[in-house]
This record gives sequence, structure tokens and C-alpha cells, in this order.
Amino acid sequence: MGSTITPIDATLGAVVTGLELARMDAATWKAVEQAFHEHAVLVFPGQDLTDDEQVAFASRFGDIELLAPDPELKAVAISNRKPDGSVMGAEEHRFKALRGNEGWHTDSSYMPLSAKASALSAQVVPSADGETEWADMRAAYDALDEGTRKRISGLSAHHSLYHSQARIGHEVETGAGYGYHTKGAPLRPLVKVHPVTRRPALYIGRHAYGIPGLDDTESEKLLSDLVDFACRPPRTYAHRWQPGDVVIWDNRCVLHRARPYNYSEVRVMRHTRVAGDPATELAPTHRDERARAYEPSTSNR
Ligand SMILES: [Fe+2]
Repeated sequence: MGSTITPIDATLGAVVTGLELARMDAATWKAVEQAFHEHAVLVFPGQDLTDDEQVAFASRFGDIELLAPDPELKAVAISNRKPDGSVMGAEEHRFKALRGNEGWHTDSSYMPLSAKASALSAQVVPSADGETEWADMRAAYDALDEGTRKRISGLSAHHSLYHSQARIGHEVETGAGYGYHTKGAPLRPLVKVHPVTRRPALYIGRHAYGIPGLDDTESEKLLSDLVDFACRPPRTYAHRWQPGDVVIWDNRCVLHRARPYNYSEVRVMRHTRVAGDPATELAPTHRDERARAYEPSTSNR
């Protein structure tokens, strides 16, 4: 049975049908991997994977980045539902973390080793809204004017989850959750060359701040102007989820964000993150003023 790869009407993304992710032969996997490099976001409707099947699928792309203290927990819930079944209130720490995801970002840019890919599947979806949206940073780089390209070549930004959450009024203490660490804020170039395709892409998003050589105001303005320019049609795709859908995306060249929904309804997603390659995704760090201490490390654990 042959799979069908249908490009989405945007500069990124394709819908893949006619295959079962849990039962791919070598040729099908090769086609999926090739499509991943070409389209950067792949949507697989109606897969209904178990936790283990999702982890096995993500593991084809590389090592799993462990997001929870339990090393056996490789697929984590992203949800506003509490263990007792009720929904989180607006003032809860975890809810504020979810709201943070509504800003354009790339996963784990605030860790020493940024992520390669992320897999997300829908378990319970609200009756409306709650999409996930992606933006193509390769096409955004291509669309920049020559002056901007020159200006940003050689510039880097620090990345910090403390910083991005503080921006939405959420001051978080070291140790409160994944990402609130003492390893320092990684310094990452604004332009990332994709390790496989060699295409340059903007590497920005809400975790980025503090461009060395620019004052805070200039740095903020440049970073927000770049996101505003980059994250607009035809470079964006928003997916309206159905339970059972699976999406995998390339964090090295796309930004993503969660879209709002009626937070009195339950939304449960399952997330598995694929670690970057230390050869291309490991960055030097500097002291993060918001962290309790600075203990440099090249490990995310
Ligand atoms: Fe994310």
C-alpha cells in the first residue's frame, strides 16, 4: 500500500495518508523522513497511536529528550485537565505554562541542547479552536530583504524560559519545572543552517532575548519585528485537531504556537520531544539572571 504525501497550501507542511505509523516498513519510513526534511511539518490524520507507539515513532528521528524526572516517561501530557478530572484555574503554574505555549517558539531553545523535532497527538480536543500553528523560518529567511539579512548575519540571541514566562507575567523559580534550570541561557545564532538540507532559517521566537552588541530595546525590537514578519501567510499553517491525529515538526527550522480555546473545556495532547544532535544543536551558555545560580552544563538532564 503506497502512502500519499499532499503538500499543504503554504510554504511548509504536508498531510500524509495511506500508512500506519505504528507499522511502517523501511521504504515507507524513508519516504516519511524525506518528506520531513522537505516539508518540515507532517500531519498524519487518524493514527490513534498508543503512548508506546508514539515514542517508537518519535525514536525513529533520534534520541528522546526527557521532559519529566521519570526517565521512563517519554510521552508527556500537555493538558489543562488535572488528575481529579477538573480543569486548571487561571492562576495555576501549569496553566500559565500552557498559556506561554501560545507565543511563537521552538522547543528547548532554552536548554543547552535544543530539540530536533517534536511529535504531538490529540487525545481530547475542545469543541472549537485550540489549533496548533506552525511558521516556516526557511521561507521567512528567504523573504528577508538584503539589508536585514546583512544586519542579522553574525548576531546571536540568548534563550530562556524564565525570560519568556516573565514576559507574560509569570515569574518562575528555579526547579519549578522543566526548563527552569541553572545551566545558563544558551546563546544561539539568529540564522541556523539546517544540518541536513543546509537551508538557512531564522532561529528566533519568544524564548530569545538579549542580543550581544545591541541594547535591550534594540534587541527586543529586532526580535519582535523578525517574528512579526516571519509568522504570516504564506508561511503559516494552523491545524484543527481531531482525536487520533499525529503531527511531527522540525524545531530546527519552524516556529509553532498553541491557539486559545475555551479553557473551561478539556484539551489533552500527548507530546514526545526528539533531542537535537550535539554537533549542531548544542550551544554555549551564559549566566541567566533570573535563575537561582549558574552551573554550566552541556547536558539537559
Ligand atoms: Fe512547544
